Amino acid sequence: MVTDQLDQLRRDAQKGLDSAATTNELSDWHARYLGRKGALTDAMRQLGALSAEERPAFGKAVNALKTELSEAFEARQEIVRGAQLDARLATDAIDVTLPGRPLELGTLHPITQLIREVSSIFAHLGFQTIEGPEVEDAYYAFDALNIPKDHPARDVWDTIFVQSESREIVLRPHTSPMQVRTMERLKPPVRVIVPGRCYRYEALDATHEWHFQQVEGLAVDEHLTMTDLKGTLAEFARQLFGPQRKVRFRCDYFPFVEPGVDFAIDCMVCHGDGCRVCKGTGWIEILGAGMVHPNVLANVGYDPDKYTGWAFGCGFERLAMLKYGITDIRAFYQSDLRFLSQFDRATA
Ligand code: DAH
Repeated sequence: MVTDQLDQLRRDAQKGLDSAATTNELSDWHARYLGRKGALTDAMRQLGALSAEERPAFGKAVNALKTELSEAFEARQEIVRGAQLDARLATDAIDVTLPGRPLELGTLHPITQLIREVSSIFAHLGFQTIEGPEVEDAYYAFDALNIPKDHPARDVWDTIFVQSESREIVLRPHTSPMQVRTMERLKPPVRVIVPGRCYRYEALDATHEWHFQQVEGLAVDEHLTMTDLKGTLAEFARQLFGPQRKVRFRCDYFPFVEPGVDFAIDCMVCHGDGCRVCKGTGWIEILGAGMVHPNVLANVGYDPDKYTGWAFGCGFERLAMLKYGITDIRAFYQSDLRFLSQFDRATA
């Protein structure tokens, strides 16, 4: 009878164990059968009620059952843990074949890209790229460039003054001062271009910024003529705006050149018929240039009877606006990624 009870207990316990599918259910099962208040402890307690002959065999049987159930428990525990682990792995799995999130890479500013392109065009024509100070002595910005104090032409540059007591210091309003600095430092032949930031006291609108970038070009040697200027600038314009570009030179005045010219290309939008971009003229002015004034050569100690030179100055923003069809110069300096990311060129 008592052994029947143990058999029943074994069957129930085994059934319970087989259906325990989680660690929680397993520990409930453990408490019910093997715990201190569990069924096997109860069975042991019954020993006292048995006769002396029955006791050893029953005790042995209970102990055997206890060992059997403990082993079964451990085996079941292994299975349940394994299954739970498998389930976790399946849901938490990392799909290593998913493409990663792309890194946001910055791009070079469109003006930086253009500076590099222009530098490269001129490098192939034998010009070296150099840079100069943005905070400049008025001597280099004006006086040495044949723009004397109190001369009305000085007003043209809407200069921002940094300090004007003992020495006149300005934020350079153009890159032309580097003509003087370069010639002071080098002996002819000179062939340089100087890209860099410039500043002017301007009312801002779609075509005026208070800070912008220019490139200055300067070539000085014996026997340089206007023909060299024209040939080089035409080549530059055709490399930047297309080989079919027509070019036009007209007289203009800049104090540091004589003669001075304004240089234009035929409109790449209407090809000369007249449109909004060229304001109906068919031509787009892109830079000022001229033969370096003998006074400027003399100011740096070059002999104007021996050497001649030509120079040009050009705004990068204007070039970029024409090249990319941008209608507002302010777009370049508002750090709007929607604008800037359009210039994500692989060649940059
Ligand atoms: N510096 C002039 C400006 O900012 C541009 C310029 C014109 C530069 C003629 C030159 C030049 O070198 O020859 O308006």
